[in-house]
Amino acid sequence: MDFDPLARHYDWMEAVTAGSLLQRARAAWLPALSGCRRVLSAGEGHGRFAQAFLERHPHAELTCVDASGRMLERARRRTRHLPAPPRWVHAAVPAWRPEPAVYDVIVTCFFLDCFPPAHLASVVEALAASATDRSAWLVVDFALPARGLARWRARAIHSGMYAFFRAAVDLPAAVLTPPDALLRAHGFRLDGRREYSWGLVRADLWRR
Ligand SMILES: C[S@@+](CC[C@H](N)C(=O)[O-])C[C@H]1O[C@@H](n2cnc3c(N)ncnc32)[C@H](O)[C@@H]1O
Repeated sequence: MDFDPLARHYDWMEAVTAGSLLQRARAAWLPALSGCRRVLSAGEGHGRFAQAFLERHPHAELTCVDASGRMLERARRRTRHLPAPPRWVHAAVPAWRPEPAVYDVIVTCFFLDCFPPAHLASVVEALAASATDRSAWLVVDFALPARGLARWRARAIHSGMYAFFRAAVDLPAAVLTPPDALLRAHGFRLDGRREYSWGLVRADLWRR
């Protein structure tokens, strides 16, 4: 998977296809993260979470890892005005493993939905190992509602989205794999869930 070719189009594509929806989901739990010190955002991408997070929590130490140099470059530009910008890591999880048991908060925005089951398990394992035993994990992702029209609608949107990203960036996943069982297996429990656009997008706050 290589997001470099998409990096310069990512902002306008998000604005045109989703308006403010994805950013509202990214920012949903920011007030609940007050007091956190060390935060890791994996697959940070274009930096919209990082900017909103550091504007709200300027004293936190934010580390952002991303496999795409061009996405990181956009994120760097977006956050360079901040007094304490993030620490940037250009690397792919889980080949790059964060330091063990140091982060109070793990953040994954529209990242876990990129992976097929086996790969997802190793990504979640590497990130979970970097969390302390009292950490939170903010998971913002596309989701499949349980039933009804909302489920059919989400299915149709997912299939268009996955077809696009598989062609554009060689995304390894063909369908969405919910990460919930993996998070539970690593000791996290769901503390809060916000849903957007008929359950198409979720912002979940998990805690250990
Ligand atoms: C769908 S984009 C999401 C970007 C952003 N977090 C957002 O909220 O829109 C996925 C991001 O994950 C990055 N990525 C993909 N695989 C990765 C990996 N194994 N380790 C770190 N970053 C990765 C991509 O380069 C891309 O920036």
